[in-house]
Amino acid sequence: MSTETPRTLTEDGVEARLSELLGQERFTPPAPFAAQAEITDPELRARAAADPVAYWEEQARQLRWSQEWTTALNEDDAPFYRWFEGGRINVSDNCLDRHVEAGRGDRVAYHWHGEEGETRDVTYAELLDQTARFAGALRQLGVQQGDVVGIYLPMIPEVVVAMLACTRIGAVHNVVFGGFSAGSVAERMEVSGAKVLVTADGSRRKGKTTAVKPEVDRTMGQLDGLEKIVVVRHAGLDDTPMTDGRDVFFDEVVAAAEPVDPEPLDAEAPMFILYSSGSTAKPKGIQHTTGGYLTGVTTTLRQVFDLQDDDVYWCSADVGWITGHSYIVYGPLANGVTSVMYEGAPDYPHQGIWWELIAKRGVTKFYTAPTAIRAAMKWGVEHVAPHDLSSLKLLGSVGEPINPKAWLWYWHVVGGERCPVVDTWWQTETGAMMITTLPGVDDAKPGSAGTPLPGIDVQVLDAETGERVTEGEGLLAIPRPWPSMLRTLYQDPDRYVSTYWSRFGETTYFVGDSARIDADGYIWVIGRVDDVINVSGHRLSTAEVESAIVAHPHVAEAAVVAKADDLTGQAIVAYVTLNGDTEGSDRIEAEVNQHIADRIGKLARPKRIVWTSDLPKTRSGKIMRRLLRDIAEERDLGDVTTLADPSVVTTLQDRWGAGA
Ligand code: WTA
Repeated sequence: MSTETPRTLTEDGVEARLSELLGQERFTPPAPFAAQAEITDPELRARAAADPVAYWEEQARQLRWSQEWTTALNEDDAPFYRWFEGGRINVSDNCLDRHVEAGRGDRVAYHWHGEEGETRDVTYAELLDQTARFAGALRQLGVQQGDVVGIYLPMIPEVVVAMLACTRIGAVHNVVFGGFSAGSVAERMEVSGAKVLVTADGSRRKGKTTAVKPEVDRTMGQLDGLEKIVVVRHAGLDDTPMTDGRDVFFDEVVAAAEPVDPEPLDAEAPMFILYSSGSTAKPKGIQHTTGGYLTGVTTTLRQVFDLQDDDVYWCSADVGWITGHSYIVYGPLANGVTSVMYEGAPDYPHQGIWWELIAKRGVTKFYTAPTAIRAAMKWGVEHVAPHDLSSLKLLGSVGEPINPKAWLWYWHVVGGERCPVVDTWWQTETGAMMITTLPGVDDAKPGSAGTPLPGIDVQVLDAETGERVTEGEGLLAIPRPWPSMLRTLYQDPDRYVSTYWSRFGETTYFVGDSARIDADGYIWVIGRVDDVINVSGHRLSTAEVESAIVAHPHVAEAAVVAKADDLTGQAIVAYVTLNGDTEGSDRIEAEVNQHIADRIGKLARPKRIVWTSDLPKTRSGKIMRRLLRDIAEERDLGDVTTLADPSVVTTLQDRWGAGA
């Protein structure tokens, strides 16, 4: 059947094939794939469900522990769960030493590709040597177990070295996405009390080099507690400012340091914090710990990506997000896989660069986001057609719901209808994939992530009653702890409890997504129910963007909402009121955008700003965001009589229409 269908490589041909496929509800695993898959046991979920803790113990045993745990799961202090209590383990040992000792030191860990076409292969042995030395250097710089180390780097192998070196000595890393502004890095360094920051001289993006270090000095130079700044020479800038006694070059400290052995750490030792957006302007420091996290990411990547010895795996995310932590760094390395790492943008130097790299490296497993797939669809099949993608065996998607058309395009144009597509649902908080299809076993339904993975329970609960919904719509919830779950919010356990463990009680994790479950138990994620916007798979909080906008001296008030967007999934729309008789203008718009870029990053700039003299408010003064969303979506507004001044919305609708 469909596995025999050749890829059509013209726009019309693709269009015709996708319309044929749009009616197909289920896609069974292609027979040649299923025949070689590692996991073929349809009973795996049922076996794991019979005793999930024992199942996770079985998975954890595939790692190297220096001491086995005494209690697999301690629930005494719920929702502060503890996994593999009493066990001792080291993450970098499992990611590096273990493979090198087994004779696989010459295996390439990363085929790195730079933006300008440079390449660098880093083997497991080289990665181990660099990591062990940089861990030694960190110790010499005064970093001790439990100290926080900030990392603000582009997509280069040194980012992996820095992260692994932290885990080697039990330092807690706090990686900030390179696309965030230095100002937002400074905030995250300050609230986490980072002692050392690892950054670069500069970064490159689409042919442009930007100096990073001067910005770091400007925003973080005065931070109390930030004692040392380590600078990776990456962008070839030779006038990098260095402060004596505080700043050191990465290559110099690595060369000078003695390698150190991995420290056996408590399974529950904090491993990293990753700041993520929540309902308020203050980002949440999501904290993960050592043994459970590593067990979760290692197991899920192996199962869902059907890892095999000769795989060449590529996850196109950025290490600054959870997807990069779990599935560029820890999952692939713990499994000893060879990965591709790409520094650049998907459309630089040309719009076919990803497909070119897949063909060049013989990539077998590819993991990306729906936004990237939709962008590639827009750029056109002619950028894919010249490249031989026959090495691909499996395709993954993550970060936002994938619309069926993008799913089918991925399946047909990229995968040639040979490769299962796994749509993986999870979050920064869950640490690892939670809902998806097992590629050799389960049918896929385009638009649905699938069912919870073995050992995981995710349910849909009625928003009003909290009762389980077996078919229909509700809120996602997780009724049972899992090893890679967050353990707390950094230095804010109360917010941890109130955000995640109060909506449905103290032992049911509240996800923050709404979803529909169908008669087969397949979950169709609809989207966030809190004030989080998902732009191109990047989580941003409306409150954070609003506070950056109102920081502009001419702005009186701002309300930010999400609007559906064909390309980015959601886009940001800002309604802004200016002070006094200031009029909205291109100049103020540019300034407001600059404020947002400085405080958060360019990625948080609104797609559209609507100037208004007033916002729709209830008589008690609460902004009615629902109406603002409806205006941006050009929907019927329904009842507006509860507004203090109902005429505001008519004016806004006119403005919206005029600017469309
Ligand atoms: C959304 C990214 C639908 C969801 C790994 C979740 C998804 C939020 C999917 C977490 C998917 C992620 N289908 N929605 N396959 N994957 N999401 O923390 O709303 O950056 O709550 O983690 O992204 O985003 P985060």
